[in-house]
Amino acid sequence: MTDLPVNTDGTPPVYDSIGIGYRQTRRPDPRLAALIHQALAGARTVVNVGAGAGSYEPPDAEVTAVDPSQVMLDQHPGPTKVRAFAEELPFPDLAFDAAMAVMTVHHWSDPARGLRELRRVSRRQVVFTWDPDHRPELWMISDYLPQIRDMENARFTPLSKVADALGAHTVLPFPIPHDFTDGFQIAYWRRPEHFLDPVVRQASSTFAQLPADIVEPAIVRLRADLDSGSWGRRHADLLARDSVDYGYRLLVAGDDGDGERRTHSTRKPHPTSHNAAGPAQSGDGRRRCRPPRTAPCIGAGVGSSMSRWTALSA
Ligand SMILES: C[S@@+](CC[C@H](N)C(=O)[O-])C[C@H]1O[C@@H](n2cnc3c(N)ncnc32)[C@H](O)[C@@H]1O
Repeated sequence: MTDLPVNTDGTPPVYDSIGIGYRQTRRPDPRLAALIHQALAGARTVVNVGAGAGSYEPPDAEVTAVDPSQVMLDQHPGPTKVRAFAEELPFPDLAFDAAMAVMTVHHWSDPARGLRELRRVSRRQVVFTWDPDHRPELWMISDYLPQIRDMENARFTPLSKVADALGAHTVLPFPIPHDFTDGFQIAYWRRPEHFLDPVVRQASSTFAQLPADIVEPAIVRLRADLDSGSWGRRHADLLARDSVDYGYRLLVAGDDGDGERRTHSTRKPHPTSHNAAGPAQSGDGRRRCRPPRTAPCIGAGVGSSMSRWTALSA
């Protein structure tokens, strides 16, 4: 491993303190894993940037895990781990078939530089992130902790900028299933009682980085609303939903696994791309993209040919 004790600004990596016990609370969700593995299909060598404990890595590829946090790398079970920042990857150009980055870009001090590095070291890039401009927002923000909005706006790059920086040819929505297993903030949109548990809150970098004197009064109000039934009355519509599109997106750039490099199209976004009700579903409950080149399936300023894509929604 490379010797990299501190952040570029001289502070220790944030996840050295908030990442303890990550594997217990942040269990990879099988539906998101299927989507990511589909995007990585055919890649024999993969660099996982901001790898953390190794969630969502394809089991059939040779993976190099990169993370600046030793606490996170210690929880990673793989054999090849490199302590480094996305912004300065210690690999030659096109060293990997694919690069993946899952729920990490918002932690990078210079996302544009990190995304350029992904493109430099790999032929295909697969990035999972959240669009801060998407609505609806989680009730936790609108009803209890509006402070989260400012925090997330400050650290998440707008999706169109991420797509442009990558030259993404495909942007897929991932509506969050009601029983999503990976405990980041959004996982509990239909299970509000989980937010009462400090262990659950600590597993989300949002809560972990907000001051306790802001979080605790909000949690007291949530508990009271759950006890009185007022939360349930206010959000009866959510209790009837199986999944909600809260703005989580998978972006794919570069080659498509057949060695063909797809390019960024300027077609208009598909009308369902910001549909709060989630995408239309076929009879078996799976969202199907249209055949290649007949219509952009999804996009935030990008179009795509979607031959190999089936977006799995819950
Ligand atoms: C929320 S975790 C995601 C981990 C993993 N990708 C997953 O999906 O479980 C964010 C990770 O990004 C890492 N990270 C923070 N700053 C980074 C940077 N500049 N370059 C690469 N990784 C970084 C953190 O150490 C942490 O492991």
